[in-house]
Amino acid sequence: MAHKMLEGKKGIIFGALDERSIAWQTAQKVVEEGGQIVLTNAPIALRMGKINELAKECNAEVIPADATSTDDLENLLNKSMEILGGKLDFVLHSIGMSPNVRKTIPYTDTNYDNFMKTLDISALSLHKLLQSCMKLDALNEWGSVVALTYIAAQRTFPGYNDMAEAKALMESIARSFGYHYGFAKKVRVNTISQSPTVTTAGSGVSGFDAFFDYADKMSPLGNAPSEDCAKYCVAMFSDYTRMVTMQNLFHDGGFSSTGVSQPIVEKMELAAGKGS
Ligand SMILES: NC(=O)c1ccc[n+]([C@@H]2O[C@H](COP(=O)([O-])OP(=O)(O)OC[C@H]3O[C@@H](n4cnc5c(N)ncnc54)[C@H](O)[C@@H]3O)[C@@H](O)[C@H]2O)c1
Repeated sequence: MAHKMLEGKKGIIFGALDERSIAWQTAQKVVEEGGQIVLTNAPIALRMGKINELAKECNAEVIPADATSTDDLENLLNKSMEILGGKLDFVLHSIGMSPNVRKTIPYTDTNYDNFMKTLDISALSLHKLLQSCMKLDALNEWGSVVALTYIAAQRTFPGYNDMAEAKALMESIARSFGYHYGFAKKVRVNTISQSPTVTTAGSGVSGFDAFFDYADKMSPLGNAPSEDCAKYCVAMFSDYTRMVTMQNLFHDGGFSSTGVSQPIVEKMELAAGKGS
């Protein structure tokens, strides 16, 4: 049921590739809640993905932008303000890519050119986006920027490879830029740390299925589905969370605060032949 929580608000959604993308679900929820959006993705993703279907459904324009290019980002912001008729109230950064993960290069034998690309695409892009927004004065006061992250920023999950460093850097950028943007324009910047989710980026992580199952059994509420992540993004874009900034917000069914759960103990006992 929609509550029109974003009536009158305008923004940009990065990263909708196909219907499994967290950004796809978020775009649908934002529009359902009365928000107006521009969709964007990297030019190559626009050719491969199905974003035009979403654009039609959301009555949104699509503007290509490689999030590592400040020229592309400035063009995107200027055009979005033109299309939406003014400054923006929210932006979703839902971007992640590691060439080392894609090529299954082990963390301990990393390719440093790839590593730099991982950091540029998955972390520095948030800084570039925020800096471009500030330069163009593209965000309204109390505007809200949300970037998606994963708990591998705090704890080691070996299959996550160099994306762990990228997420740690990105969360730090959200805090640092959130400080400056808060004082300068009352704009807030937060990261949402989401449960493992079956998407193109998610399933690229080695051992994803076992990992997904483990997290589900460890979390008192189970893994958070992407539809719920979309709802959390809507809440963070709304005026109901006006005083929240510079936070890393876990949206993970309780995983991050659980040491071990009974279902995991029972699974281990069963594997050791001790189960009933
Ligand atoms: N799926 C999970 O398990 C999970 C868990 C926690 C956090 N996240 C994060 O959620 C976000 C969205 O990922 P997703 O799971 O929806 O997967 P996804 O593959 O659907 O989305 C990733 C998006 O990043 C875009 N992208 C890659 N390079 C880009 C570039 N240079 N410029 C602009 N866009 C670019 C891709 O085109 C794609 O749309 C990512 O930041 C991801 O790390 C995912």
